[in-house]
Amino acid sequence: MRRLFPVTDQTVPTPSGGSPLGAADEGGGAARDREWSLDELADAYAYPEPGPGSSPGSGSGGRRPWLRANMVSTLDGAAQHEGRSQPISTAADMRIFGTLRGLADVVVVGAETVRQEGYRPARARAEFAPRREAAGQGPAPAVAVVTAGLGLDFSLPLFTSPLVPTLILTGAAAPPDRVAAAERAGARVVIAGDGTGVEPDRAVRALAGLGHTRLLTEGGPRLLGQFVAAGVLDELCLTLSPMLSAGDAQRIAGGPSLAVPRRFALASLLEEEGFLFARYRRP
Ligand SMILES: NC(=O)c1ccc[n+]([C@@H]2O[C@H](COP(=O)([O-])OP(=O)(O)OC[C@H]3O[C@@H](n4cnc5c(N)ncnc54)[C@H](OP(=O)(O)O)[C@@H]3O)[C@@H](O)[C@H]2O)c1
Repeated sequence: MRRLFPVTDQTVPTPSGGSPLGAADEGGGAARDREWSLDELADAYAYPEPGPGSSPGSGSGGRRPWLRANMVSTLDGAAQHEGRSQPISTAADMRIFGTLRGLADVVVVGAETVRQEGYRPARARAEFAPRREAAGQGPAPAVAVVTAGLGLDFSLPLFTSPLVPTLILTGAAAPPDRVAAAERAGARVVIAGDGTGVEPDRAVRALAGLGHTRLLTEGGPRLLGQFVAAGVLDELCLTLSPMLSAGDAQRIAGGPSLAVPRRFALASLLEEEGFLFARYRRP
């Protein structure tokens, strides 16, 4: 993996004294392509530190919630192939996927992605343990499933045996019998809407109220589109997969289009084997 942007020499030194910049700094100008350690990836994807603008009421420890999305797309905009994202992903993408989880307080995901991708609880990984402890985080992020109907299989390990109780984000008018089933399975139901549905900005505030301010959403497209439309998405980690798939797959964000496209700024760009790993932030 190599960093294409920003081009800087202020990168983490490697044991050999080189830098992950990959680069021209090592003479010859040839980019050095090597696997980054999880620590290097975690440094590259660290959540922003609380700034001077944050106040004690704006989240846990004065940290305002930061909502980051992680999505993968083909060159022609497909967010899945045959209903799953794995065929358009790659090992480096999965390392970044794992790193982003390792940095997050909570992973927010739409119920259809849980159903289609067979979601399991997030793991506690030794590689991230010291970093999480220093950041005051538990051993693994909670998973928060966004659902109106709660048509989920509550006998799955995601609900029965997570390290941290799985959250169900739903509306006040959610079916009571399904709410009871979720709670019986061990899930924690969090109301973030007055009807059956979740209001995206309320979901962010509800999670922050539980102390979860480093938010990571893994989609899917219908959920991400709502976060975009509500103006609560701070960052998009986008893997551009060097594949074309045609067909009628969803894009990474769906739903009604915005009146005016919202502009984001490129924060960093990594590359491995033709896959581009971009990070865009709301300016
Ligand atoms: N390329 C990528 O990076 C990526 C990432 C994730 C997923 N995917 C792919 O995307 C597909 C699934 O995505 P999707 O867009 O169809 O579905 P999704 O966003 O994962 O889930 C949609 C479901 O979430 C719940 N939901 C969404 N908004 C809600 C709201 N405001 N209030 C309450 N519940 C709400 C509803 O669940 P209920 O029906 O339970 O009420 C809805 O049916 C899969 O094929 C998956 O492989 C791709």
